[in-house]
Amino acid sequence: MSSLEDLRSRLDLAGQSHLLRFWPELSADQRSRFVTELSQLDPAELRAHCRAAAEAASRDSSSEQRLDQRMEPVPAEFIGGVKRSDKETLCEWENEGLLQISQNKVAVLLLAGGQGTRLGVSYPKGMYDVGLPSCKTLYHIQAERIRKVQQLAEQKHGSKCTVPWYIMTSEFTLAPTESFFKENDYFNLDKSDVIMFEQRMIPAVSFDGKVILENKSKIAMAPDGNGGLYRALTENKILQDMDRRGIQYVHVYCVDNILVKLADPVFIGFCVRKGADCGAKVVEKAFPEEPVGVVCRVDGVYQVAEYSEVSPEVARQRGPTGDLVYGAGNICNHFFTLDFLKTISEKSEKMLKQHVAIKKVPYVDDEGNLIKPDKPNGIKMEKFVFDVFQFSSNFVAFEVLREEEFSPLKNADTAVNDTPSTARRSLLSQHYHWVLAAGAGFLDSQNRKLHPKPRLADNEDPPAICEISPLVSYFGEGLQMLLKGKELKSPFILDEKTAEQLKDQ
Ligand code: UTP
Repeated sequence: MSSLEDLRSRLDLAGQSHLLRFWPELSADQRSRFVTELSQLDPAELRAHCRAAAEAASRDSSSEQRLDQRMEPVPAEFIGGVKRSDKETLCEWENEGLLQISQNKVAVLLLAGGQGTRLGVSYPKGMYDVGLPSCKTLYHIQAERIRKVQQLAEQKHGSKCTVPWYIMTSEFTLAPTESFFKENDYFNLDKSDVIMFEQRMIPAVSFDGKVILENKSKIAMAPDGNGGLYRALTENKILQDMDRRGIQYVHVYCVDNILVKLADPVFIGFCVRKGADCGAKVVEKAFPEEPVGVVCRVDGVYQVAEYSEVSPEVARQRGPTGDLVYGAGNICNHFFTLDFLKTISEKSEKMLKQHVAIKKVPYVDDEGNLIKPDKPNGIKMEKFVFDVFQFSSNFVAFEVLREEEFSPLKNADTAVNDTPSTARRSLLSQHYHWVLAAGAGFLDSQNRKLHPKPRLADNEDPPAICEISPLVSYFGEGLQMLLKGKELKSPFILDEKTAEQLKDQ
């Protein structure tokens, strides 16, 4: 352990000697923990980090250069999609994906290190239950989708297989996520195939470049963004683990999309057939002003252009078919080959852009009072997972239907969009449509026929409540043989047990 003098001179070097200003007041225990925390910071790195944060925050973001003149859309030959392809081609990609899965070459990787501040719960977002009839949490739904896709691959190609689930957590989410999985017996997955690892935390910095003290003996730390993935993969030897298992393709996704198709065979198959090293799923932007990043090329290389980097005129441009020219909305759903991940993590990670987030960071003032600021006072620096597109030598995009694949949980129910209610509605609407498509209908609680509504308006609840377990159907498949011609009483939960009973009827 460093001596106090040693520590003082390291902090001096980094321009952060203020961190020890409460030292005389600390207990032996607090001192020992604080020294451990501070000793882990490299003075040169810390100095550079604080400078970069203060400089970045002082730049006026409104003066940031627009990308209008430098951007072009993803060329048609590198973008596939559900609406752009015929059934036969989609089927071929699905088979290819299932084949790769059946050969144990596919893993899924969940980004679950975020603090979920907008949702405002004190536990990891994956443990959130959006109020489905089954009360399943996001983690539970995802685990069942993994089990189902393994089964589908096995049925198709006759070999038992595993899709390992890598989960990137942070100091905030690791312990509760681990205990939650233990309590739930890993949702019947093999414990050894659920691999949790932790991303780095980095200090939050004030506008004048000083590390913020959260209390007298602890600095305010924040996870280094979902692009912290690449560093975490190396530091935790995850790529070696993937190698050992023979993994070649990795599907990376965010915790909060209730409709996410884990290891989606169609997406995997498309990327593999195209020989891609890196791929992104996209959804068509709902309207030009929608504040989502778009996948495009800038100066010839792929990237996500933030909404603020594109002028309204360019955002509104439409092509000959009437579609938005820059309509490929990024949904944080990526395909990477293991080789690509190795190159990024070993060589390019340091070159990834640092994004600045200005936040309210609780701190201790000069008098030692704990303050919860009511306006932003701190800078958190983050890397983004998609900033690696520029290093791809064969990038592809794959467009999917929003109503089938994207409904993120970002905000509490006081907001209009991306809330528990909208996430629940998206899932229940999807399942309602699957049932209608399978040729079944619904009855209300008095056994009266409910008029089917094949099209629901935005934000309209389906007329019947129906939830289908991912263990019964992954993307709507296999329902016809169970449900055709049946009249189901709402609310209807189709789990494995009910499916067995229906088979016997
Ligand atoms: P968001 O940017 O939506 O952040 O993360 P968040 O932490 O979930 O929510 P807010 O902004 O605090 O309200 C998108 C995805 O990236 C992950 C999140 O867990 C989520 O799956 N993420 C984010 C990380 O894994 N690490 C991070 O440092 C940040």
